Amino acid sequence: MSKKIAEPTTLPKQRAFLVGVEIHGQEALLSLEDSLEELSRLADTAGLEVVGETSQRLEHPHPETYVGSGKVEEIKALVEETLADVVIFDNELSPRHLRELEERFGNHVQVIDRTTLILDIFAQHASTREGILQVELAQYEYRLPRLTRAWTHLARQTGGGGGRAGRAGGVGLRGPGETQLEVDRREIRRRIAVLKAELEKVRAHRMRYRAQRRRSEIPVISLVGYTNAGKSTLLNSLSNAGVYVANQLFATLDPVTRRVELPQGHRVLFTDTVGFIQKLPTQLVAAFRATLEEITEADLLIHVVDSSHPNALAQWRAVQQTLIEINADHIPVITAFNKIDLLTDADELGSLLEEIPNAVTISAQKRIGLSNLLAMVEERLFEVLLPVRVHIPYQQGRFISLFHEQGQVEQVEHGRGGVTIQGQIPGRLLTRFRPFFTHNKKQ
Ligand code: GTP
Repeated sequence: MSKKIAEPTTLPKQRAFLVGVEIHGQEALLSLEDSLEELSRLADTAGLEVVGETSQRLEHPHPETYVGSGKVEEIKALVEETLADVVIFDNELSPRHLRELEERFGNHVQVIDRTTLILDIFAQHASTREGILQVELAQYEYRLPRLTRAWTHLARQTGGGGGRAGRAGGVGLRGPGETQLEVDRREIRRRIAVLKAELEKVRAHRMRYRAQRRRSEIPVISLVGYTNAGKSTLLNSLSNAGVYVANQLFATLDPVTRRVELPQGHRVLFTDTVGFIQKLPTQLVAAFRATLEEITEADLLIHVVDSSHPNALAQWRAVQQTLIEINADHIPVITAFNKIDLLTDADELGSLLEEIPNAVTISAQKRIGLSNLLAMVEERLFEVLLPVRVHIPYQQGRFISLFHEQGQVEQVEHGRGGVTIQGQIPGRLLTRFRPFFTHNKKQ
């Protein structure tokens, strides 16, 4: 019988030392310093105490230790000096890097990368069954190839108990070696299979629920934005939804949906989604399919930007980039420049407003500009007509009627399998007609 493996939970309160690396020629959204600053906030959100940091600019990563050997020695000395328990790299480390670095720093020091840290925060914040399953699966999948020590050791590192004292027994604990590692790997694979099966069940249930919601034909608006931009606050202000708001990164992980009435009386649904962040690995994005599916099926996106943040534009870009990655860039977007109450000089926004179309300024917290935002939403969904050309199979007759009822038909051609219609439809129906688009489509 295989031994019981501890669930990956959260990192105990530990002393963290941060390492940032800029690779020459690698495009980065944030500067080395700003990215480290963000990593520090992430560590803080995860409940770690940041005790120091260092950085290096490199031509390319060192094949064994990511940073150069001199830097490894320097970090080792600093780690000893600051009594750090964990070294966090701002860049994604390969299994080999992790192994080599742990070897150099010694067994009492844990090495993790930004992704592991983000996963840890996700684990702390997941609350729905699907959210919890997703994070656990992502943690196991990320960890499997990176398993460098026997699981007993890892379980101790992630299982609470905290601090140096709690980990002292870990010194020199290497497990019985390769065979034990293999056992652990097999056990993780088994657990991954179980989690996948459970997730499928939960998803099937959600799909039924969503199909029901779709039938109700109420337009769905997804709030997207960089972590901490103010999405949950906006949803609260719009709907008194009571979503958890915290000055922390990734306070929201699971999609929350609330009904809101627009100024002219139209009813719509707003959903809050997971915050985006730069360097979010695609595999992580895939793990959060549930939340992201809410985005790709929305009729309209509100991209919330923290306009008081010094890197507001870089954050805006990071989100736009992720929207492209998850195939959501076809959905119309309104950009809401939030937290304007924190701007001392409104002109600070000038260049951003010039660069980004369909934008409004708001303060979600102070409830400034919200009726303006809602009026814009109503206009985009119910008044603005968008030109489209669609080919609808006869079996999908419901959509042919829908076009005639709610859109403006300009040209109809009957073919063998279906009908091609050219005309205009209200913005809220764009996503619904999307599967039938043919060329000539404009948004
Ligand atoms: P994630 O869950 O990380 O994606 O964050 P979020 O985008 O949902 O942000 P959230 O609503 O949790 O807000 C983050 C912080 O910004 C909180 O401390 C809010 O109180 C604050 N905040 C949000 N909107 C405003 C605003 O208009 N003005 C000011 N001054 N603060 C705001």
